[in-house]
Amino acid sequence: MSNTYSFAKIASGAAVAALSISVILAGSASARPLSAQTRANLETAMHGEAYAHLKYQAYADKAEASGKPELAKLFREAADVEGNEHFDREQAMLGLAGTNDANLRDAMAGEHYENTKMYLDFARQADRDGDHDTAAMFRQIAADEGDHYAQYKAALDKLAE
Ligand SMILES: [Fe+2]
Ligand SMILES: [Fe+2]
Repeated sequence: MSNTYSFAKIASGAAVAALSISVILAGSASARPLSAQTRANLETAMHGEAYAHLKYQAYADKAEASGKPELAKLFREAADVEGNEHFDREQAMLGLAGTNDANLRDAMAGEHYENTKMYLDFARQADRDGDHDTAAMFRQIAADEGDHYAQYKAALDKLAE
């Protein structure tokens, strides 16, 4: 009985010590800024993980539609790890999310670029190559991005009130 108690006490003491060490390590890791190359590698990795997260869901849909539920499950489980574990750990390490104000401005910049430049360039190029359905889709998506920009802009204005 007392042995069990002291083991539990030692174990909980060890857990507290381990926790303190991890807090100290996390503290020192965040105190020292990441190198530019590490930040760039995190960005590259996050793009891959985010893409894999959604790609595997599309693959799972296909597997399901082809009557392969086990394969669908395999893709969905991996998709979950890519998005909710790998991407999430990487974005936390990078410190992706800033203040609400900074996040809205960053989101607006991306949507504005997609709305006014990227998708329109892509649509023109697709039309030149005869890919008219794709061009039309790019233009529709460009319009959606304009809506996102306007919604973020309104939210930013409200934030400043
Ligand atoms: Fe991954
Ligand atoms: Fe968007």
